Amino acid sequence: MSAMFDLAELQGNILRGYTKKPHVRYLILEVADRSAARRWLASSVSGRGDGVPQITTGDWGPNKPDTCFNIGLTYEGLRALGTPSASLEMFPNEFVEGMTARALKLGDVGPSAPENWPAPFNEPKRIHLIATIYAEKVEQLNEVQERALYDREALTLLGTREGYNFPGDFVHFGYRDNITQPRFEEIHDPDRYPDRQPRAPLGTVLLGHPTNLEGLTWRVPLPAELGHNGTFNAFRVLKQDVAGFEEYLDRAASDLLKHPQVDELLQPGDEEKIGKGLSRRAALREIVAANLCGRWRDGTPLALSADAPDPKADLTDFDYVGVGDSRCPHGAHIRRCNPRGGQIVQRIANNSRRLVRRGVPYGPPYDPAKRDRDEPEPERGLLGNFIGASLGAQFEAMSCDWLNLGLQDPRITGSNDPISGANDPVTSWFDLPLKSGGTIRLRGLPRFVLTRGGAYTFLPSLSAIRFLGSL
Ligand code: HEM
Repeated sequence: MSAMFDLAELQGNILRGYTKKPHVRYLILEVADRSAARRWLASSVSGRGDGVPQITTGDWGPNKPDTCFNIGLTYEGLRALGTPSASLEMFPNEFVEGMTARALKLGDVGPSAPENWPAPFNEPKRIHLIATIYAEKVEQLNEVQERALYDREALTLLGTREGYNFPGDFVHFGYRDNITQPRFEEIHDPDRYPDRQPRAPLGTVLLGHPTNLEGLTWRVPLPAELGHNGTFNAFRVLKQDVAGFEEYLDRAASDLLKHPQVDELLQPGDEEKIGKGLSRRAALREIVAANLCGRWRDGTPLALSADAPDPKADLTDFDYVGVGDSRCPHGAHIRRCNPRGGQIVQRIANNSRRLVRRGVPYGPPYDPAKRDRDEPEPERGLLGNFIGASLGAQFEAMSCDWLNLGLQDPRITGSNDPISGANDPVTSWFDLPLKSGGTIRLRGLPRFVLTRGGAYTFLPSLSAIRFLGSL
């Protein structure tokens, strides 16, 4: 392990996730009083068991704590704490401007535009600190929240968001998630699946460490105790229209039934291979769902098993090498987000845009049997954290060039990500690859995911929290 690197110096949810902590609550906070907020920060790393919850570090020891607590600071938060201007000036523009100013790049337009975000995200300048609590039980969330807010002079609670992990890591839309994460050099994470992708250098996610950008590294805001070992997070509240997604699958399956090449997608008689007891239409729905994501809903990658889900297939050990070698659509969500070793236009970006994803679903699971068409559906979606050393070169580049413009491959340029992209049914399209090498083009995809809030935060190291606490 490098001399400059100590897991106890990092917040605990960066290099490894808190698996098996089903409940997650975000406290969206404003600095009420600068001195009191600095004292609060200093207490959060004091090692004292009473009072302000202690920041969970990456050094859990043999057992993960019962509850975990982490923080991120916005640029406005750093300012509110009185961070010296010489340091503030060293933070990258996208972080300084904040998420709402980057709306166009992120596809936050129309109903996703920041003007339509509900409180507290409608007042982005007031969002200074986002604290996250992870726990086994809701009562524990309440208890930690109470301690975090005990000193009313320090922080004002603007709002909360809460989610819980569904069994089996499934998310709304019915896919299994939390399969792929970058695996880091020097870090052993027993919860991660092995894969054949190059290990990510620590600088993919931590400031001050080597990256895979041909010897270049990201600028570290000074003093080093503030910037070194810090990272950036795009926190996103992403509302998912599950009923709309399922209805789209219905429509697409009905259209495919009439398509002259449908047998190339599904040989008559093969329906049972897709799922027990499935009708031809229901099997086609699943084929469409799998192609949109690049994985069957149980997680089986199409790159390894394009014709049917395979419970024995490896979940992560696959690649898209060579033109036409893989039957995973070029436009599928996971292929757009991570082209692995596949051929893309921005060759150097194959491995440099990788993001750590820490997400949790919110809202009740969708149950079509309980759907009341006269009542609005309850809001449900994903509370997503997309973590990397550069918001601009990783999260924004992925969101803009790859998810929304499809610049990585001329075969998908001009189309949006089918799952999370800013689609318009009038212009949207998605190509389903056929065994013969041809494609069937699906059209009319609506926007399934709307942004309902978010913020760019800096995830400070423990030294940085001490530094800010002692200003
Ligand atoms: C509500 C919106 C979204 C849903 C439902 C969703 C769903 C999924 C699912 C089911 C997977 C496959 C599981 C896995 O490989 O771990 C996945 C992978 C991934 N998603 Fe998303 N996603 C959403 C939004 C986003 C956004 C906004 C980004 C980035 C800007 C993103 C980036 C990724 C990445 C990087 C992967 C891993 C791909 C790989 O390495 O193979 N996702 N997502």
